Amino acid sequence: MMEEHRQCFAIFFFIYLVFCTSQFATSQRLVNFISGVPTLWINRPSIGGKFSRDILNYTPILLEGNASLRFLYGFSCTFDHTECFLGISLVLYNSTGETIYIEGGQLIWSANRNHPVQVNATLQLGRDGNLVLADSDGTLVWSTNTTGKSVSGLNLTETGNLVLFDTTNRTVWQSFDHPTDCLLPGQNLVSGQKLTASVSAYNSSQGLFSLTVLNGSLAAYIDSDPPQYYYASDNPDSLYWSFDGHTLTALQYPPTSTAQFIKLGHDGHLRVYHFGDLNWEEVDYILSGDDCRYPMVCGRYSICANGGQCTCPVEVNFFKPFSERNPGLGCTELMSISCDSSQYHSFVELKNTEYFSFRFNYELNSSVFWLEGQKIEDCQRACLSNCSCKAAVYDPYRNMRGSCLLLNEVFSLIDGGLGTVFLKVQNSPNAPVIFPRQKTPFKVIIGCTLIGILLILSVCSALSKKRSEKRKAGDFLDLEPILPGILTRFSYNELKIITQDFNRKLGKGGFGSVYEGTLSNGTKIAVKHLNGVGQVKESFLTEVKTVGGIHHINLVKLIGYCAEKSHRLLIYEYMVNGSLDRWITQENGLTWHKRQMVISDIAKGLAYLHEDCSHKIIHLDIKPQNILLDQNFRAKISDFGLSKLIEKDKSKVVTRMRGTPGYIAPEWLSSVITEKVDVYAFGIVLLEILCGRKNLDWSQTDEEDVHLLTVFTRKAEQEQLTDMVDRNEDMQLHREAVTEMMSLAAWCLQGDFSKRPSMSMVVKALEGLVTVETNLDYNFRNVPKIGAGNQPREATISSKLPSVLSGPR
Ligand SMILES: *[C@@H]1O[C@H](CO)[C@@H](O)[C@H](O)[C@H]1NC(C)=O
Ligand SMILES: *[C@@H]1O[C@H](CO)[C@@H](O)[C@H](O)[C@H]1NC(C)=O
Ligand SMILES: *[C@@H]1O[C@H](CO)[C@@H](O)[C@H](O)[C@H]1NC(C)=O
Ligand SMILES: *[C@@H]1O[C@H](CO)[C@@H](O)[C@H](O)[C@H]1NC(C)=O
Repeated sequence: MMEEHRQCFAIFFFIYLVFCTSQFATSQRLVNFISGVPTLWINRPSIGGKFSRDILNYTPILLEGNASLRFLYGFSCTFDHTECFLGISLVLYNSTGETIYIEGGQLIWSANRNHPVQVNATLQLGRDGNLVLADSDGTLVWSTNTTGKSVSGLNLTETGNLVLFDTTNRTVWQSFDHPTDCLLPGQNLVSGQKLTASVSAYNSSQGLFSLTVLNGSLAAYIDSDPPQYYYASDNPDSLYWSFDGHTLTALQYPPTSTAQFIKLGHDGHLRVYHFGDLNWEEVDYILSGDDCRYPMVCGRYSICANGGQCTCPVEVNFFKPFSERNPGLGCTELMSISCDSSQYHSFVELKNTEYFSFRFNYELNSSVFWLEGQKIEDCQRACLSNCSCKAAVYDPYRNMRGSCLLLNEVFSLIDGGLGTVFLKVQNSPNAPVIFPRQKTPFKVIIGCTLIGILLILSVCSALSKKRSEKRKAGDFLDLEPILPGILTRFSYNELKIITQDFNRKLGKGGFGSVYEGTLSNGTKIAVKHLNGVGQVKESFLTEVKTVGGIHHINLVKLIGYCAEKSHRLLIYEYMVNGSLDRWITQENGLTWHKRQMVISDIAKGLAYLHEDCSHKIIHLDIKPQNILLDQNFRAKISDFGLSKLIEKDKSKVVTRMRGTPGYIAPEWLSSVITEKVDVYAFGIVLLEILCGRKNLDWSQTDEEDVHLLTVFTRKAEQEQLTDMVDRNEDMQLHREAVTEMMSLAAWCLQGDFSKRPSMSMVVKALEGLVTVETNLDYNFRNVPKIGAGNQPREATISSKLPSVLSGPR
C-alpha cells in the first residue's frame, strides 16, 4: 500500500514537472539540490540556446551559480531534438523578465556519450538509490550502479560536480570520478581514470585519444593494440594543473578567470578554454606544441612536415592518399599485407623520419615490442618475422647499437629527426586488393599497375641488395650524423677525455651542467651535459636543429653533439667572459661603449633569427643568462632549447607558455605569440644593462623597488629617469645618452605587442637611422602578475613553468 502510494506520488510529481516545465523555468525555481527520493525527470527540451552553429535545447534539472555563467545539469538536445545527452553543461544564463536564454553551452560531462537519447527519455532516482537513464522506448542507457547505498539526494556543487549523497551526507557517487573529455578546476585525474576524446566535433562518442596517469607519469595515447603513446611526462608543467605523480589536479588560472575547463580534443590535443568577453576562447595547448607529434595529424601512413603539411610516402608506388583533395586524411596501402604470402613482404625505407611514440614507449617501459641494442638488420628481421608487425622504427642514437620499435598499427610519421622508419609492404599480386568498392574496369588498371610495381620492385630489390652489401662493408656508417656536414658527432668517451672527466664546471642550470673542455688542437670548448628525460631530449633536438643549421656572428656556435645511450650533450664554442648576468650586477661593470656593443650585438642576433633565416626562429628565452660574451666582449645569443621555428608566412603561433618569469611578455596570457615576445624580453635585458641591476632584485629593501619595471614607471612619471642609470663612473659620464636609450627599452616593452618595434627596427634605432616612437605608454604596472608579481607568486609560477636550460658559461 505504502509503496503504491509513493509511486503515485512520484507519478504525480512527474506530471507536475512535465506540466509546469515552462513555469518551472521562468519562475527560476531551478535549484542545485534535490533531496528526497524517488524522483523522476523527463526529457522535454524547453529552453533554447545556441552555441555557434548548433542550437541546443535544454531540459534543466539542476542549476548552480549566481553569475551569468552557470553549471546546468540536465538534458541538452540538438535543435531538431534527434540527439540528446544527459550531462553537465557550462552555460551562459540570462533571464529577462519571463524569458530565459541559455547560450554558450559547453557539455563538459555526459552520462551517455555513446548512446544519445530521444525526447521523452527518463531519468529516475529510484528508492533503491540508483540513478537510471532510460531512453524513450524504455531501453536502459546508463545508471550510477548505486543500488542499496541509501542515497538520499542529488546535488550539483559549485565546482560543477554532480553528487549523490546518502543520509549522512556522505558522497556515494560523483561525476568527477567518471570524467568524459573535460576536467574542471578542482577536479582530479588519478591512476585508473582517463579522459577520452570525442570522435569528432559533431560526434560525442568515445574517440581514439585518451589521457591518463600511468606509472607516475601523465600519459596520452591513441587507442590501438597495444596503445601508442604520444605524450608522457613525470613532470608535466602547466599553469593549469598540479601533478604529484599520482594525481593530476586541474587548477583555475589565472585565479580571476570566470570559467574555464581543460578538454582533450578529438585531434588528441589538450586545450584550456576560458570564457572571454562573449565566447569560449582557447588559451593554451598543453601537450606537445609541435603539431607533427600527434598520431593522426596527417592520418595513417602519412608523413607530417613543418607542423602540418601531409604527404604520402612518395618514393615508391605502395601508398596513395586516401583522398586526393584532403591530404590530411592519410594514405592507404595499395595492397594489404597478407599473412599467407609473407615471403612477398618487404620494406619501404624512410630515412630521417621519426615516429611520435618512439621515445614515450621507451620511457614508459610500456611496450613489449621494444628491442634495445639491436642492429638495423635485426630490427627489420624482427618485424618481417611477425605478420602483425606493420612497421619497424629504428633509431641508431638511442643506444650505441641502436633501438628498435615494432608497430602493429602505423599512424602519422614525422619528417626529420635521426631515425629510420621501415614500412612493411606487400609485393605479391595474389594479395587481396584493398579497394573493395572498385568496379571491374579498375581491376584492369590495377592489374597493369601491379605488373608495373613488380617490375620496379625487381629493379629496386636488386639495387637494395647492392646497398645492403655496401652497408655491411661499413656498418658504422649508420651512425654518421645525418645533419649536413657541419656538426661533429662526439662519442661520450671522447668528451670524457676532452673535459677531463667533466672536471671543470662552468655553470649549472635546471637540466644539467656546462663544463669546460679542450680539443686536441688546443681549442677550448664548452660542453653542455643535459640530464633528464622527455623535455630534455626535445630541447636537445630543437637546439641541434635550430643552431646546427644557422651561422651568425651574434649567435653562439654549436660545434657538435653527442647522443649516446641516455647521454645528450651539446658542444659549443667557448666564451671566455661567460654570461651577461655576471657583468650586469658587477660592481664597476662594463663601460658604456662595451655595453652599447653588447646591446647592438643582441639586437642583431635577434634580428637575424626573426627575419633572415629560412624559418623564422623565436628564441622564447632571452635573458642575461643566455647572452654570452667572448674575449672582446662581443655578445652572442645562446640556448635555443625552448625556441620555436615558424614558417615564414605565419606570423603567429600557438604554443604552451615558455620562458623565464620576469622576461615573459604579457600576451602569453592571451595565447597568441609572435616574435615580439623576444622584443619584450630584449627590452627587459636592455633596461637591466642600462641600470646595472637585475629585473627582479629581492635585495631591495623597499618592496616597491624589487621590480625594475615598477621603478621605471615611477621614475618616468617623476621625469627622473636619470636616477636609474648605473652608478658606474663611465655610465654616469654618459648619463644623457643612457637615459635616451631608456626610451628604446620602453618602446620594446609596450604592453600591446603590435606597438613594439621589430628587431630590425631596433637595430636601425641603435644605429640612429630611425627615431624612437614618441607616443609611448610608460605604465608598465599593468603588466600581468606573471611578470610583475610579488615573491611568493613568482615562486609558484616558476615551479610550473618549464624548467630552463642554462647556456654554456
Ligand atoms: C512524448 O510523450 C508525449 C506524451 O506521452 C507525446 O505526446 C509526445 O508525442 C512524445 N514525444 C515524442 C517525440 O515521442
Ligand atoms: C559517432 O561515432 C561512432 C563511433 O565511431 C559511430 O558508431 C556513430 O555512428 C557516430 N554517430 C554519428 C551520428 O555519426
Ligand atoms: C622496464 O621493463 C623491464 C623488463 O620488463 C624491467 O626489468 C624494468 O624494471 C622496467 N623498468 C621500469 C622503470 O619499470
Ligand atoms: C607478434 O606476435 C605476437 C604473438 O603472435 C603478437 O601478439 C604480436 O601482436 C605480434 N606483433 C608484434 C609487433 O610483435
